[in-house]
Amino acid sequence: MVRRMTATREATAVATAHSAQGSDGRRLDIGAWAYFEGKLVPFADANVSIATHSFNYGTAIFEGIRGYRQADGHVALLFALEHYQRLLRNGKLLRTSIPETAEELVEVTREMLRRNEAAEDLYIRPLLYKSAQSIRLQLTGLDDRIAIFAFPLGDYVATEGLRVSLSAWQRVNDNAVPARGKITGSYVNACLAVEDAHAGGYGEALLLTSEGHVAEASSANIFIVNGRQIATPPTSDDVLPGITRDAIMTVARDHGYDVVERKVDRTELYVADEIFLSGTGVQIAAIASIDDRPIGSGDGFPVTTSLQQAYFKAVRGLDPRYSHWLTRV
Ligand SMILES: Cc1ncc(COP(=O)(O)O)c(C=O)c1O
Repeated sequence: MVRRMTATREATAVATAHSAQGSDGRRLDIGAWAYFEGKLVPFADANVSIATHSFNYGTAIFEGIRGYRQADGHVALLFALEHYQRLLRNGKLLRTSIPETAEELVEVTREMLRRNEAAEDLYIRPLLYKSAQSIRLQLTGLDDRIAIFAFPLGDYVATEGLRVSLSAWQRVNDNAVPARGKITGSYVNACLAVEDAHAGGYGEALLLTSEGHVAEASSANIFIVNGRQIATPPTSDDVLPGITRDAIMTVARDHGYDVVERKVDRTELYVADEIFLSGTGVQIAAIASIDDRPIGSGDGFPVTTSLQQAYFKAVRGLDPRYSHWLTRV
C-alpha cells in the first residue's frame, strides 16, 4: 500500500522550483513536488545519503514517462501504467521488493503533477533504487524505494534529421549487465557513446552488439525502412524493449507496413531507404546521416514523417484509436 500522501503546511511553504541540466545543456525547472520514501515532499527534501547502495553501485532502475498537453489544456501521461509495470518487472533483475503497485504509482504521479500544477509537455523520472546505506556487493537484504520527480520537456533531440555516428563502444551485453533492465549503472555505456558522438559533432550514437549487429541508439530503439518493410532488431540483441518501439510497430502495421523483428547488419544502415529512432525521450526522430553517409534518396523521410504525424496525433489525444495510451492527470 502507498503510504498516505501528506504535506505539512511548512512543507507547502518551502516547495519551490529547482533546476537540473537537460541533455542539450539547457536548465530544466524541476516540479516543486517529488515522491520520496512513500510520500509527496518538496523536491528539496528528496535527498539520499552518499552511503546509499544505488549511489555507490548503480543499483537502481529508472523509467522515463512523457506527459503531453492535450487540446483542452489538460496534461495526459503516455503509457503510464506500462512504464510502471516495466519498472517493477525489471526490478526483479535487481531483486527489488516494494509495497507500491504499478496502479498506485500512476495515481501518485498524477497527484504529484496536480500539485506541481503541470500544464505543459513534461517528462517524469521514476527511480526504483536500493536505498540501504551499505557498501555490500549484494542485491538482497537491502531496502528498496521509489522516487519520482518531473520537469517540463519539449523535443529532446531534433526529430527532423539527426546526424548520427556508429560508436566504437559496444552495447552493454545481456551477460554483463542486462540491457533490457534500464539499470542506472549500465547507462555509463550510453554516456560514453554519446560523449564521443557529441565530441565528433554528431547528435546521437548507434551501438552494435558484441557480435557486431545493430542494437540501438544510446537511449532509443532503431527502425530501418526499405520499401513497405520496416525492420527493428530483436530484443535478444541487447536492446531495451521500448514501449514506444511497441507503439510504433502497432501504428506502422495499422498503416499497412510489414513490420519485422530481425537481426540488422551494420552495412544495412548505409543502404536503407530511411532510418528512424523511437523512444519516450526522442519520440520519433528521423536519421539524416550515419557516419556522414546520407540516408535515403535525399527527398526527405516520407515513411518516418507519416509515422511521426500519426504518433504525435495519438499522444495529443487526437486519434481515438489510441486513446487508451493516455491517462489524464
Ligand atoms: C537504451 C534505451 N533504448 C530504448 C529506449 C526507448 O524506450 P521507451 O520507448 O520505452 O522509452 C530507451 C529509453 O527509455 C533507452 O534508454
